[in-house]
Amino acid sequence: MRLGGGKRRRVAPKPYVVFCALVTGLLGLLLLTFRPLEDAPRPLVPFARASEFNVSSSDGGTSVEGVLAFQRVAEKACKTVEEMGEDFGKGVGMESLRVRKIIENHFVANGALRVRDFPPEQFCRHGFVLGKTAEAGFGNEMYKVLTAAALSVMLNRSLIIGQTRGKYPFGDYISYSNFTFTVKEIKHLWRQKGCESKYGRKLVMRIDDFNKPLETNVLCSNWKKWKQPIIWFQGTTDSVAAQFFLKNIYSQMRIAAFNLFGDPEVLGLRPNVFGELMRVLISPSEDVDAAVNWVIGGGENPDISLHMRMLMNRSGRAVQAVLRCLKKAIRSQHLMSSRPKVVLVSDTPAVVKSIMSMPNISEFAEVLHFDYDQFKGSMSKGMRISDFRRKDWGSAPRWVAFVDFFLASRAKFAAISGAHRRVGTTYAQLIAALGAAYNLGDKSGSRFLFFSSFQSNLLRDGLKHQVGWGHVWNRYAGPLSCRNQANQCAFTPVLPSAWWDGLWQSPIPRDINRLASYGIRLSGLGNVDSNSLKSHCKKRKNIVRTITFKL
Ligand SMILES: *[C@@H]1O[C@H](CO)[C@@H](O)[C@H](O)[C@H]1NC(C)=O
Ligand SMILES: *[C@@H]1O[C@H](CO)[C@@H](O)[C@H](O)[C@H]1NC(C)=O
Ligand SMILES: *[C@@H]1O[C@H](CO)[C@@H](O)[C@H](O)[C@H]1NC(C)=O
Ligand SMILES: *[C@@H]1O[C@H](CO)[C@@H](O)[C@H](O)[C@H]1NC(C)=O
Ligand SMILES: *[C@@H]1O[C@H](CO)[C@@H](O)[C@H](O)[C@H]1NC(C)=O
Repeated sequence: MRLGGGKRRRVAPKPYVVFCALVTGLLGLLLLTFRPLEDAPRPLVPFARASEFNVSSSDGGTSVEGVLAFQRVAEKACKTVEEMGEDFGKGVGMESLRVRKIIENHFVANGALRVRDFPPEQFCRHGFVLGKTAEAGFGNEMYKVLTAAALSVMLNRSLIIGQTRGKYPFGDYISYSNFTFTVKEIKHLWRQKGCESKYGRKLVMRIDDFNKPLETNVLCSNWKKWKQPIIWFQGTTDSVAAQFFLKNIYSQMRIAAFNLFGDPEVLGLRPNVFGELMRVLISPSEDVDAAVNWVIGGGENPDISLHMRMLMNRSGRAVQAVLRCLKKAIRSQHLMSSRPKVVLVSDTPAVVKSIMSMPNISEFAEVLHFDYDQFKGSMSKGMRISDFRRKDWGSAPRWVAFVDFFLASRAKFAAISGAHRRVGTTYAQLIAALGAAYNLGDKSGSRFLFFSSFQSNLLRDGLKHQVGWGHVWNRYAGPLSCRNQANQCAFTPVLPSAWWDGLWQSPIPRDINRLASYGIRLSGLGNVDSNSLKSHCKKRKNIVRTITFKL
């Protein structure tokens, strides 16, 4: 079985060349009349790649019709979401354990517990990465912290969690590991150890903004050589930014990124990096944990979590599709006979209601939900429901999203993401990632699965509408995604792809343009022209933005 082929190993085809290849392939096939198709010599370029141009428009003789027929038999020109997801149905335990070791060793070596006791000379030479957030949506903000953590691993620097007015990000609901520093403590240590006064080293922070394609050095600079004590990689709201280092022009950076994220071309073997990082970095606050345990009620953890991001829409189709997906998840994990516990999380109360009141769902599952009105814990007092971003986040008070998050990540076997429009948002990705990490014991046997549920009306134009980089299927949204698909329930990667390296990944025009602004020439089928990137990097102005902390 193919685990997502590598495009770099393929020749970028010119239409005419592919056409010839098709004809040659056909002639070869005719000569080998009785050989089964699987054994037919496969041309370098898979036929799917021919979908970009119109084969039948060439001088329509019989041979051309023959080619088309062969193409249809040999390989479809597009894939459904379920077909695309076949790479992700096996779990990534081994790879994730490898990365878990790297992360644990990193935080032991570079954790605050050790580094704050460094002798002054060593401490003042040490490097840090800052993870800083604003209080926007949890998924996006958490990815900022996690990107900083990933970068700290790649650069062998310590991690600082940025505070705002003395408070950690979402500090009322989340606790951070004692491996991390705060800026306040670094300033204190910098003074105390005389870094500036004795060693002449100012506390300088270099800022690189990922959202400014013309300024960011994510692709064109060797960050391992940066001398500033602190680095802040700004604007990294999803899994993509950290993975840009996979394409950095310096092999030292690429190797560091590969070491952490795995080979982006081997889709089925990419470790659960963000889940493993969360597992060591964050935990629910006591209040949130109490609410989670209140829902679970002293029993076993839930088996499956089901997240429905509905933006106040109560689409019956989404609900129907997700029920089918739930059944597939139950079958995939062999839970048919046990009436599994399913925890339901949604921004839209009406959808929770309609799922929980389905007449026959209770025949095959026990459905749980956090009903915050009924909860009498400390957080429920004095919390007003604000209208701020109500459409986006739902009508429940803010803290409920954190209870839902940690509740859903307790699932033992699977997470399912359903949506009115955007399937596999950052919030859903992080639920699945943390769930997978919690359930990966010290052995690699666990096979936590992540599913995406698409109702057919979301797929009329294939995955084309999964436009945001924060959405897990964005990398598949291009021309290789079939139009008019039936409902889909697809295995989904716990580490979203940031590139289009897999055989069936292809970009939408918007992403080709966006990559162009970063200096990357991306073909319609997702190939990166690395020569053009090198020359782009040579030509561009090197921008260094820093600030110096007053001690
Ligand atoms: C291919 O070309 C033929 C003839 O020019 C045209 O009728 C057909 O619509 C084209 N198909 C696509 C998919 O562009
Ligand atoms: C990484 O940092 C730690 C702690 O500062 C240090 O002991 C170790 O030698 C470094 N490793 C590499 C490969 O630079
Ligand atoms: C740091 O956190 C770990 C894990 O939560 C805990 O076991 C340990 O005691 C803590 N160490 C210190 C010095 O607080
Ligand atoms: C809900 O979504 C469906 C399907 O996308 C759409 O037809 C309908 O208008 C939406 N309803 C509301 C109230 O937004
Ligand atoms: C629930 O019952 C209806 C009607 O009896 C049936 O059509 C449907 O398939 C059932 N759904 C599930 C999820 O079992």
